[in-house]
Amino acid sequence: MKNLIVYFSWSNNTKRLVEDLNKTFNFDIVRIFREVPYSEDYDTCAYKEAKEEVEKQIHPAIKKMNVDFNSYDNILLFFPIWWYTFPMPVGTFISELGNFKGKIYVFANSYTNDPKYMENSMRDLRKINKNITFVEGLFNKSTKNHIDFIKNIEK
Ligand SMILES: Cc1cc2nc3c(=O)[nH]c(=O)nc-3n(C[C@H](O)[C@H](O)[C@H](O)COP(=O)(O)O)c2cc1C
Repeated sequence: MKNLIVYFSWSNNTKRLVEDLNKTFNFDIVRIFREVPYSEDYDTCAYKEAKEEVEKQIHPAIKKMNVDFNSYDNILLFFPIWWYTFPMPVGTFISELGNFKGKIYVFANSYTNDPKYMENSMRDLRKINKNITFVEGLFNKSTKNHIDFIKNIEK
């Protein structure tokens, strides 16, 4: 199985998680960047930029990724929860992905451990791109939990 990690991160918790777990796997990793970066100021990013995007369902432009996604069996998609669902640049990525033939495993983390966030994310991802098979991965779990989960996908 050939797996690709794709992630979005603003304050680098998700970045740390994927880099940590990937010491075990050494998969290729790509990061989603908004074309115009979010403010580094939390209040501006959270209460202005990100909030408006989620409320209006705006998919902002993202930086070009020079990756042949269909050469991978699975994408392991990681993101923080932003306003109860995934950050909108993740929506852009999924919408632009077209008809990825493999599966996308979804891993999310957030400050509050509300299981609704994962439900929302799965529902919203499926709405954006109906051609893709999304599989619920883990929500707010440890690096070790992730490693064990991903080893099971590999079998
Ligand atoms: C714009 C924004 C919105 C957020 N919305 C939520 C939220 O709705 N619920 C929550 O529990 N945490 C929320 N958080 C906290 C993040 O999900 C959490 O800190 C996450 O670990 C950050 O990951 P990162 O460092 O990879 O960006 C939000 C953070 C930001 C910046």
